[in-house]
Amino acid sequence: MSGVRLEAKVHIVTGAVTSAQNIIKCCNRTGLNVADIALEPLASAEAVLTPEERELGVALVDMGGGTTDIALFHDGAVKHTAVLAIGGNHLTSDIAAGLRTPIGEAERIKQRYGYARTSMVTKDERVEVPSVGGRNSRTISRQILCEIIEPRLEEIFQLIRREIAKSGYEGSLASGAVMTGGSTLLPGMIEMAEGIFGMPVRLGIPTRVGGLVDVVSSPIYATGVGLVLYGMKRQEKSFFRIREDNLFAKVRNRMVDWFSEFF
Ligand SMILES: Nc1ncnc2c1ncn2[C@@H]1O[C@H](COP(=O)(O)OP(=O)(O)OP(=O)(O)O)[C@@H](O)[C@H]1O
Ligand SMILES: [Mg+2]
Repeated sequence: MSGVRLEAKVHIVTGAVTSAQNIIKCCNRTGLNVADIALEPLASAEAVLTPEERELGVALVDMGGGTTDIALFHDGAVKHTAVLAIGGNHLTSDIAAGLRTPIGEAERIKQRYGYARTSMVTKDERVEVPSVGGRNSRTISRQILCEIIEPRLEEIFQLIRREIAKSGYEGSLASGAVMTGGSTLLPGMIEMAEGIFGMPVRLGIPTRVGGLVDVVSSPIYATGVGLVLYGMKRQEKSFFRIREDNLFAKVRNRMVDWFSEFF
């Protein structure tokens, strides 16, 4: 084909160089070489989305501990990405403050007794809550625990819904949303998300992998499995190792390289 002008629409993800530096430094200190860095929801998407979903339009929502990451796909391509600074750890700290219990206990109680909807648990279910400062532990109704979780989750879901609406692709998500990340292990999440997003939602569990399938078949491993698949696609790229000296220049050069790949 002949032509005089070539146009492309590209999605560029930018980030703070220091944040990228810190991640690379952590990996290097454990003895690992870093081949590339990837935005978390794009890695998770590799593990949990099907090609048909990406084609028809889908919202990938990865709810982790510190952040909730969003990536919207349509026509097989990334259309929008966003990172919200709120996640499962906020639920835990709400429980710790609300029930006056240490963070570690709040985390354990959330994982064992947490439920997204208060109406789904009965009043007579009791939960033992250890106290702080050597005081005696108490028992509370499981409903009280869920009354702490539900409004915070609703707030997070509303923020996600607003971010999707803001992107302008709300009407292009024929496949609905796929939720993944450790926080989606909380029962009742998917039903609650469907109600708030107003679209079909499914749980994203890593697929397309062999080996220890039983171990990694959990939304908590979506990013890990996704990074492996993402890396496989880019195997031809050379590895680079950043030493302590002149770290900044090397990360900056790497980021400049990303841009030169596009332009
Ligand atoms: N069974 C469970 N029920 C509810 N929440 C859970 C459960 N197991 C783990 N979590 C929550 O999942 C979160 C961690 O998820 P994940 O491993 O996806 O996060 P991360 O990828 O490390 O963090 P981020 O994406 O924010 O960088 C924690 O907030 C934890 O409390
Ligand atoms: Mg995560």
